Amino acid sequence: MKSLQHYLQFSDLDAAAYAHLFERAALIKAKFKKYEKYQPLIDRTLAMIFEKASTRTRVSFEAGMYQMGGSVVHLTTEGSQLGRSEPIEDSARVISRMVDLVMIRTFEQTKIEAFAAHSRVPVINGLTNEFHPCQILADIFTFIEHRGSIKGKTVAWVGDGNNMANTWLQAAEILDFNVHISTPSGYEIDAVVANLKSSKHYKVFTDPMEACKGADLVTTDVWTSMGFEAENEARKKAFADWCVDSDMMAAAKADALFMHCLPAHRGEEVSADVIDGPQSVVWDEAENRMHAQKALMEYLLLGTTQAN
Ligand code: CP
Ligand code: NVA
Repeated sequence: MKSLQHYLQFSDLDAAAYAHLFERAALIKAKFKKYEKYQPLIDRTLAMIFEKASTRTRVSFEAGMYQMGGSVVHLTTEGSQLGRSEPIEDSARVISRMVDLVMIRTFEQTKIEAFAAHSRVPVINGLTNEFHPCQILADIFTFIEHRGSIKGKTVAWVGDGNNMANTWLQAAEILDFNVHISTPSGYEIDAVVANLKSSKHYKVFTDPMEACKGADLVTTDVWTSMGFEAENEARKKAFADWCVDSDMMAAAKADALFMHCLPAHRGEEVSADVIDGPQSVVWDEAENRMHAQKALMEYLLLGTTQAN
């Protein structure tokens, strides 16, 4: 029986666990492409709790769980007692008595931590204000598919010091690569919030072009994340020079990849010719959410003992 393991931030797993997940994701993806059934999670149920909007996270978890033989329950804040102030601890106690696994997309990281502390089953972070570990899991799997190991490589982060940036920084410490990070003034990353062990795996640049120099991967995200909509106009002004365009891609390595977790705003954080251009792997990245999360769900529920 697997002991209770949550996935609340990228640092919850070590390099060996990630090596296992990337290997399993590749195998599970290959089976999916061949229409080969793989149902290790028959009779298992995943509860998905969304306190924010989603397209990819919803579809990838829901389709993935059904493909593995399990089923899902979909909850939103408005449609459940969460929106009527039932304590998160009570919700955790109740929901985790009826399902095998819980995925939550919410606001503060403290909220998912409180849920996990009162849950009988593994809890997965489907995005919080601070982190988006499932996305970086899929992004690194996508990098490996295209370019091999990410160890020693350089990832340029251009834009907001947000949940995606924090998670890239954690991943760099665990998988031993470097992040060049450039954010507008006032939107820097906070190493305490990102829960970093040291500053060894990242370098801060004022000029986004400098951050892109020599990068193996250039990546960005929306200027205004969910929950920060009131700041939208101020952010549009502050971020005007943090648009990944063909000049920034030209500063990176000739074979650099471009990634974006999506949804994207062409003409804001990325130009259309970059996101729709030959270096962009955003559609693989989106698809890989499902394969990587299937590997994650298998790992959290069954451990590493799969026969096939
Ligand atoms: N990238 C991502 O998490 O997308 P959704 O918000 O559509 O789930
Ligand atoms: N940083 C974005 C990611 C969306 C998938 C947000 O939190 O809204």
